[in-house]
Amino acid sequence: MIEVRGLTKRYPGRTVLRNAVDGIDLDVPEGKLVTLLGPSGCGKTTTLRLIAGLEKPDDGRISIGGTLMCAPSEGVYVGVHHRPIGVVFQSYAVWPHMTAVQNVMFPLRSGQKKLPKPEARRRAMEALEMVGLAEYADRPAPALSGGQQQRISLARALTREPEVLLLDEPLSNLDAGLRDRVRDEIRAVQQRLGITTVFVTHDQDEALAVSDEVIVMDHGRIVERGLAQDIYAWPREEFTARFMGISNSLPGTVTSADRDMAEIDLAHGRLRCLASGTPAVGSRVNVFIRPESLVLSRKDPSGRGWKGTVEFSIYHGDCWDYHVRVGDTLLRSRMYREKIGLAHGDPVFVVPEQETAIAITETPEGTADERTAGATVLAATTAADAAGQGEL
Ligand SMILES: Nc1ncnc2c1ncn2[C@@H]1O[C@H](COP(=O)(O)OP(=O)(O)O)[C@@H](O)[C@H]1O
Ligand SMILES: [Mg+2]
Repeated sequence: MIEVRGLTKRYPGRTVLRNAVDGIDLDVPEGKLVTLLGPSGCGKTTTLRLIAGLEKPDDGRISIGGTLMCAPSEGVYVGVHHRPIGVVFQSYAVWPHMTAVQNVMFPLRSGQKKLPKPEARRRAMEALEMVGLAEYADRPAPALSGGQQQRISLARALTREPEVLLLDEPLSNLDAGLRDRVRDEIRAVQQRLGITTVFVTHDQDEALAVSDEVIVMDHGRIVERGLAQDIYAWPREEFTARFMGISNSLPGTVTSADRDMAEIDLAHGRLRCLASGTPAVGSRVNVFIRPESLVLSRKDPSGRGWKGTVEFSIYHGDCWDYHVRVGDTLLRSRMYREKIGLAHGDPVFVVPEQETAIAITETPEGTADERTAGATVLAATTAADAAGQGEL
């Protein structure tokens, strides 16, 4: 449905090594929701604005529904108002002097394809119905909650029955409680209408919750893509593993490997891990272990536990998080079962689950942390741009 090839965007006057969008290819199948996920400054918004036609690329091509929207090398460029898209931005630009329905009607009553008032109102009411706000149609916009205002933006984006919906961090200005509700509402509307959607976010939980497919970006490039559940269960790249919050990372050496598994020697013992691409025996890897894959126990009947000391515990209601020092390493463990009653200074065994930890060959480019930090510095320059984001 959406097809992007070799998309490249350079902003003038920038001195960084990579382009804001650095030659990316992506496909969004008809009716699917694909998320662009990555740290601030990685090029998500620029990619979305290029698809929308709010920016012109330096290179590459974009087609929507089989029609070429832009290709600088062929001199093709379809303007934003002629693309079959609806866009929602982070700042829910709702006009305060209008009611809900007037806000939604506004784009239908302006521009070249201006509709008569009754027709515009009928279409706007349909869109409000879709987002569950029909009963609020005649309320002044400021009398609606943030979540309702963002749903008005969504209704407005849907009024022209676009083929494609583009959403740039649509939840990030909402309070935590509301965010989940509006997120679910967006996903429900998207699935009900079967509308092809690109959703931009920096929040991995949000991405997993709404997506058919997740595309992980860093520094203007695609790091990795896959079904949400695959990206979660088995990230293939170190950057993704860190970005998905797999907080334990231990250096190790491969002692044997077959197709999708490898035995890894770690400082504290040997562990059977997921490993793609059959790493060479003797090669160095980083092993990523989810906190919930480190089980704590006072005894160690299996003999596979790593001996450590509890540094502290945090209670979250449905689980406990423990920080346990094993040798020089501080490990994080999450226990969902009842509290095993551990306190600061208690000796404990950390028993790692077999075949869920992920071994990833060390990358020569420096750690993902350094790269993420770099991206954050760069992102500081986008504040002015972000402030200038309007809404269609
Ligand atoms: N209008 C602009 N002028 C110059 N640089 C920009 C502009 N917009 C974005 N950038 C830069 O392009 C890169 C990607 O930005 P952006 O697409 O906004 O990232 P994200 O949405 O992932 O945070 C960043 O390094 C940012 O500083
Ligand atoms: Mg952005």
